[in-house]
Amino acid sequence: MKKNILVIYYSQTGQLEDIVRNIAKPFEAQKDAYDITYYNIRLKEDFPFPWPGDVFFNTFPESYLQIPKEIVPPSEEILNKKYDLILFGYQVWYLTPSIPIISFLKSDYASRILKDTPVVTISGTRNMWMLSQEKLKVYLRDLQAQLVGNIALVDRHDNYTSVLTILRWLTTGQKEKSGWLPAAGVSDEEISGSVKYGEIIERHFKNNDLKNVQPELVKKGAIEIRAFLVRVEKVGNKIFTVWSNLIIKKKEKRPLLIKFFKVYLMAAIWIISPVVLVLHLLTTPIFWFKRQKQKRYLQGINLK
Ligand SMILES: Cc1cc2nc3c(=O)[nH]c(=O)nc-3n(C[C@H](O)[C@H](O)[C@H](O)COP(=O)(O)O)c2cc1C
Repeated sequence: MKKNILVIYYSQTGQLEDIVRNIAKPFEAQKDAYDITYYNIRLKEDFPFPWPGDVFFNTFPESYLQIPKEIVPPSEEILNKKYDLILFGYQVWYLTPSIPIISFLKSDYASRILKDTPVVTISGTRNMWMLSQEKLKVYLRDLQAQLVGNIALVDRHDNYTSVLTILRWLTTGQKEKSGWLPAAGVSDEEISGSVKYGEIIERHFKNNDLKNVQPELVKKGAIEIRAFLVRVEKVGNKIFTVWSNLIIKKKEKRPLLIKFFKVYLMAAIWIISPVVLVLHLLTTPIFWFKRQKQKRYLQGINLK
């Protein structure tokens, strides 16, 4: 009997769609063994791409507070089938799974599709996905899905270069390099090379050994943890909690507060985060073992 594989994703630029399609290739190559369905999550009212700058920043409070929008229902076929494995592609918006992904997870469809099913999560982000994955782990646990693997593809450039290139990419649509700035996002080599992760997943799936897939994915480079970025995310989550609640509460002042938030965010990236970096480097010997432990945890699929 053929096994049913479901590939769930949302992608504005097409980057994440390319990634999940590459990871699904080893399954696609065995059409007699696998039936593969793609479920592209769609919102009734989608976000624009490229993003007008003000819309981009205005999306922050709802993104961070995980306020869902209405999604187009998945097809009856998807809702009525039992899947043997789900490849779940998502991106991060403001240190949180994106609004389209949250909207799906909070919909009634999510538990029908995900319950009692092994899931491999796949993200394509700038570089700050670690605490977002923790948020996603909670959803998957509550929906009684079985998280078996995680692949996190990122922009490997330094944190500052990737801020500049992602802003160019998201607000103008230009991913390719321009002047002295490199291409944005996950590199083409890593996107096409992600087939190798699909091969690992397919082999473990076939051998009924998905519980051991994550260590092999990690060994092959599916997850890089930069301790400094985890620290930035921790601080960022605290500050985002304050800003998002303030903006939501003070409805009448929203446009002004969003402008302040934008200035604050830029200052945080260009002024505060270098200070955090220096402190982080200085404390390396003291926190060495703690950070190694944290790294191992974040590379894994368990939830603390
Ligand atoms: C509103 C918004 C906020 C984002 N925030 C983050 C973030 O906090 N961390 C991160 O690593 N990437 C962030 N990104 C980048 C996305 O995760 C993703 O890599 C990029 O938008 C391309 O995604 P797509 O083509 O799959 O939709 C953000 C993107 C958008 C549009």
